[in-house]
Amino acid sequence: MDRDDPSYKGQAGYTRFMLAIYDPWVMGFMAPVVWKSPAPPIVVRYRRNLRRRHLDVGPGTGYLIEKSEPAEGTEITLLDPNPNVLARSSRRLAALHPVTVEADVMKPLPLPGRFDSAALSFVLHCLRGPQEHKAVAIRNIAAVLEPDGVLFGSTVLGMEAPHSRAARGALRAFNRHGDFDNLGDTADGLREILEGSFETVDVEEAGSIAHFTATGSR
Ligand SMILES: C[S@@+](CC[C@H](N)C(=O)[O-])C[C@H]1O[C@@H](n2cnc3c(N)ncnc32)[C@H](O)[C@@H]1O
Repeated sequence: MDRDDPSYKGQAGYTRFMLAIYDPWVMGFMAPVVWKSPAPPIVVRYRRNLRRRHLDVGPGTGYLIEKSEPAEGTEITLLDPNPNVLARSSRRLAALHPVTVEADVMKPLPLPGRFDSAALSFVLHCLRGPQEHKAVAIRNIAAVLEPDGVLFGSTVLGMEAPHSRAARGALRAFNRHGDFDNLGDTADGLREILEGSFETVDVEEAGSIAHFTATGSR
């Protein structure tokens, strides 16, 4: 991705080294200790929403997909602008024969078919704000979902959420560095951008995180 691209900063941190330590660092420490939202319930949500033709936008290491143990015959597409992410997640999920697509969710998605489910897990806080601008990503995903398809995921909320002191410190540091751009993101704002593209929206707050599902793409 071009360094001048507005999406560059949100994906640049996923170096091979970062991906090697991602699971213990993010799923083992940041999620349960700092964001107060442990990984096992996130895996349960992922498994519940995962359908036959599935798109994962921003798969990271592929941790959530693997732990969700997709049923035999599930067709997985992994979409990310970062080639390190696609290499690592597709290697991990090789038994599922995933299709990989190097693309930015903020641009129309170069995907041929339609999907029954799409995950956007811990990606929205990496996208450039303000939060209304992130509606572009939601619209782009809605455009490749079947009308009865489901979009689901989680995101770290901005400063208005009831964060611990450690979470506030982490948020400020990640925003200063550019990995996150979410200081103004709220659960209400998330609901609004989802409702712009979907008929039925559910947003649930847990610690520093909002979990969401959306169905009925408009
Ligand atoms: C915090 S990781 C989340 C990984 C995984 N989904 C999880 O929940 O553990 C953020 C992921 O979003 C990807 N990402 C960042 N900006 C993106 C963009 N503009 N389009 C698509 N993916 C993006 C990153 O490359 C990375 O794979």
